[in-house]
Amino acid sequence: MIVITGATGSIGRALVARLHGQDVLAVSRKPADMGVRHAVGDFTSPETIGGLLSPGDRLFLNSSPFPGWAGRLNEVIDRAAKAGVAQIVSVSVRDAAPGASLSAGPHGEIDEHLRASGVPHAILQPTGFMQNLIGDLRGGDRFHGAWGGGGMNYIDARDIAAVAAALLTRPVGASESYLLTGPESPTHEEIAATMTSVLGRPIAYVDLPVPEMAARLAGQGVPEPFATELATAHATLGETGWAEITTTVEEVTGRPPHTLADFLADHAAAFAPAG
Ligand SMILES: NC(=O)c1ccc[n+]([C@@H]2O[C@H](COP(=O)([O-])OP(=O)(O)OC[C@H]3O[C@@H](n4cnc5c(N)ncnc54)[C@H](OP(=O)(O)O)[C@@H]3O)[C@@H](O)[C@H]2O)c1
Repeated sequence: MIVITGATGSIGRALVARLHGQDVLAVSRKPADMGVRHAVGDFTSPETIGGLLSPGDRLFLNSSPFPGWAGRLNEVIDRAAKAGVAQIVSVSVRDAAPGASLSAGPHGEIDEHLRASGVPHAILQPTGFMQNLIGDLRGGDRFHGAWGGGGMNYIDARDIAAVAAALLTRPVGASESYLLTGPESPTHEEIAATMTSVLGRPIAYVDLPVPEMAARLAGQGVPEPFATELATAHATLGETGWAEITTTVEEVTGRPPHTLADFLADHAAAFAPAG
């Protein structure tokens, strides 16, 4: 059985769709009709997810962050090892390392725990998601950031799901980490130009100094110090770059990852003007 946690998320839904017809168990915190078997499980009570696992299962380990998240996911890894799970495919982040800023720190702790667990594993370390751009634009005609003029790589979450589906359905291979990127690393001005041409209305990118971007995020309800860390991460990544491109998606799945233009065309309704 393939047990998919985070099944209702942007990666999870695409993964469940790809694995239709297989022996799949989708897991989320509330009952959900996903067209496959479903169970309720919550990482804040690791036993509710550990209790779903049987010897030989393959586990897709994914959750959005919450307070104390690394400890809870590590507990699920321990329970999976005890249950005799055959493989864990987990979602981490590019440059994950214990002590790193934002989610990269806890992701680094989870990655290290998984590597030491003895369970065969694949750790997916994706760059930023194209899906973030939907929330950045919010149906408007401009979006803001502190990225500066450097290139930034975004990946379509559907491509992360495609990699996970391939790894969860082929024979379990050597344990590895996979740096996953999209096929291009545009500047945010270039992203705005692609949005303008694909979505058919003028869209601008507005670059702000870090303190102004942090204040803007705080005004949108992002708590401090997270708002400042996030704005700082924009500027740092914009300078030093999450720009490097890998060919891993195509190597694992046999297909190139979606371009930004593909993604925008497929999600045009989500980018439609608000109101
Ligand atoms: N966004 C980015 O740019 C980016 C970049 C690199 C890596 N990542 C990583 O990608 C992961 C998120 O991916 P995603 O696209 O699937 O996120 P998502 O669309 O926000 O979905 C999150 C999923 O986690 C589940 N979840 C949240 N809290 C849970 C809990 N306590 N117990 C059980 N399930 C819980 C949610 O299920 P419910 O239905 O129960 O809420 C949902 O299915 C995170 O680890 C993030 O750090 C994100």
